[in-house]
Amino acid sequence: MNNIIDTSPVTQRVHESAWAHVTGKALYTDDLPELQGTLHAALGLSPYAHARILKTDLSKVKASTGVITVFTASDIPGDNQCGPIIKDDPILADGLLQYVGQPVFIVVADSHEHARKAARLAEYEVEMLPAQLHPRAAAADGQLVIPPMHLRRGDAQSRLAAAPHRIQGQWQVGGQEQFYLEGQIASAIPGEGNTMLVYCSTQHPSEMQHIVAHALHIGSHQVQVVCRRMGGGFGGKESQSALWAACAAIAASHLRRPVKLRADRDDDMQVTGKRHDFCYDYDAGFDADGRLLGLSVQMISRAGFSADLSGPVATRAVCHLDNAYFLSDVDVRALCAKTNTQSNTAFRGFGGPQGALLIEYLMDDIARHLGKDPYEVRRSNFYDPDPANERYLTHYGQPVADNVLQPLSEQLHQEANYAARREAILAFNRQSPVLKKGLALTPVKFGIAFNVTHLNQAGGLVHIYLDGTVLVNHGGTEMGQGIHTKILQVVARELGVSADKVRIAATDTSKIANTSATAASTGTDLNGKAVQDAAIQLRQRLSALASRLSGAPETAVHFSDNQVTAGDWTMPFAELIQKAYLQRIQLWSDGFYATPGIHWNAAAMQGSPFQYFAYGAALSEVIVDTLTGEWKLLATDLLYDAGQSINPAIDRGQVEGGFIQGMGWLTMEELVWNKEGKLSTHAPSTYKIPAVSDCPAHFNTRLFSNVNAADTIYRSKAVGEPPLLLAFSVFFAIRDAVAAIHSDFKGHVPLAAPATPEAILNAVQTMQSTLK
Ligand code: MTE
Ligand code: MOS
Repeated sequence: MNNIIDTSPVTQRVHESAWAHVTGKALYTDDLPELQGTLHAALGLSPYAHARILKTDLSKVKASTGVITVFTASDIPGDNQCGPIIKDDPILADGLLQYVGQPVFIVVADSHEHARKAARLAEYEVEMLPAQLHPRAAAADGQLVIPPMHLRRGDAQSRLAAAPHRIQGQWQVGGQEQFYLEGQIASAIPGEGNTMLVYCSTQHPSEMQHIVAHALHIGSHQVQVVCRRMGGGFGGKESQSALWAACAAIAASHLRRPVKLRADRDDDMQVTGKRHDFCYDYDAGFDADGRLLGLSVQMISRAGFSADLSGPVATRAVCHLDNAYFLSDVDVRALCAKTNTQSNTAFRGFGGPQGALLIEYLMDDIARHLGKDPYEVRRSNFYDPDPANERYLTHYGQPVADNVLQPLSEQLHQEANYAARREAILAFNRQSPVLKKGLALTPVKFGIAFNVTHLNQAGGLVHIYLDGTVLVNHGGTEMGQGIHTKILQVVARELGVSADKVRIAATDTSKIANTSATAASTGTDLNGKAVQDAAIQLRQRLSALASRLSGAPETAVHFSDNQVTAGDWTMPFAELIQKAYLQRIQLWSDGFYATPGIHWNAAAMQGSPFQYFAYGAALSEVIVDTLTGEWKLLATDLLYDAGQSINPAIDRGQVEGGFIQGMGWLTMEELVWNKEGKLSTHAPSTYKIPAVSDCPAHFNTRLFSNVNAADTIYRSKAVGEPPLLLAFSVFFAIRDAVAAIHSDFKGHVPLAAPATPEAILNAVQTMQSTLK
């Protein structure tokens, strides 16, 4: 299995922009030199969660220092619409206010500060409407942004009725702010012939292009969207960069001057959607070994005021309800509740974490109900790697064909000394009345590909210039995850040139058309194959020439170390390029890729939507102060299956980053809306994300030795999102520690997610009062 491809001489160990990131020389959208005459915009935001506007008075806004003009919904030349799938998402509110923070107008001023100050001076006369702030209540009232989803296999109800053990209940998990370091930003520059160039921090330049074109009522060929890099996206710039791109473009189009729109953190957090919080109703039946027999689940997500990506997020939640486990008889419903809050959107894992978290919660409860070790119960529910076994098919009908759950988890179990540490923790807890330790080992299985089949396509464009240097365009966007580095490695390897000869250009809709979002962790899978296709075409043309020059057959021609060789014959790559040019051989090529073998029936929720699965496992150990609810992560061991990793350094960075981000979601990040529906936690002062000091002292991250069974680029596997789910181990380690307040505790530990110190203390006190 272990024939790791040697990518030398192009092994790029560090991120291609690492030096620029750490020296501050990396250019983000706001750093681009401003053109003469650039104006600055800010958005005027709704102060009400739900109201009809009777009168808007913008006179104070217009009179404010430095203000040039104001635009409202009626100034939009084309569609007042930025919904990615369903057209229920106005760019600017038109008469109806649907959440606190909804953009109502654009104010343009001579400076960023002047625009921001003016944006707060609007006065409204409104008719207040009842605001729905609770997903459960909304769902009960039938207030949904899309029709309910339903997936069933077998007969859950009769299996539940017949099961020897059964647990039922309700639970919920909070949402999460993406908290990209670089906020939302777009800078629009009008050109001749009604064209618009938009620099935008976005994961989805093509969608920005379409939405800007529709808003301006011009053709897509008149709009160019460019993104060199983002300072993080995490899903938050997949659809929701559209608002900013559209508003900057609307203002620039009217004024025929460049307009820049940059959100400050408070506005960004109040305007844009987050990870969906989920409410669950569950009913699980199991046998004496803890094996699931029947499962019925309803998931309600907080969609917010519009659909945005809530549909696909719910689909992924349903498809990841199994996580690593075979569900024989199952009935899952998913409802996307319409609330008067921000429209929730993509966030690393895209609903997958919310689906898988519930089954892990149930595994934990089942184990504690039976008095078993949770890892034993988890293991006994794993999918079976044998295709002849019925425990081989997911609940949506896809074979788990590349299952390494058992060997991967066992490797971690052994290398991280689970058994010995379990014993040590039991001993510690026996003699420690207040401080309690806990341990959890949790697995991850995550499907890779967009559920929507047609999105699984990508393009590449590779130019070789006469000095032998190479410029690459592809459809993926860089958000810190290292896609440009990996793409660079692919092209350098295919052409046999050193990494310094290859440069990745900014992502640009005028270079690669009709791209998909860089999302679903598929960036390198899709774009890596597309640029490889382009590079191979170039190599073939050059091989034919080298064969003619050397007299050797084409099969004897090799490209490596900036040299082209054929037997004894050798020529520097750059020299061969010159010769090719003189012989009028095309020195650039496009490339294309469409993921094979995937299909999905959305109505039946059945199919094989994923090209393959990525796997991982995590073991975390915590200590909890049961008097204060404070806790600390002491040690974490992570093992992740990146297939044949293209770049182990970057992949380990993704695994560690995803883990810590997931830990933030499940233990410290808490979104709070006040009674009026205003998000109270709209700045780092009130919204706590993990800090460096929250990393465990023992933090051991390894890549599992594996080769992707699917024919992906160099048999690698995606790594962007799945590691976020490794953080389940922290939550369940905390739950394990709370359970330890009573020795040999059997039953339910009522721990809320996120497990903030307050939630931990609540759980401890609830258990103490019920067990007294
Ligand atoms: N890593 C960094 N540093 N910054 C990000 O914004 N986004 C994540 C993940 N890793 C993100 C990140 C998300 S949500 C996705 S879908 C993937 O990267 C997208 O990139 P990929 O498909 O190239 O892995
Ligand atoms: Mo990632 S949530 O698919 O952008």
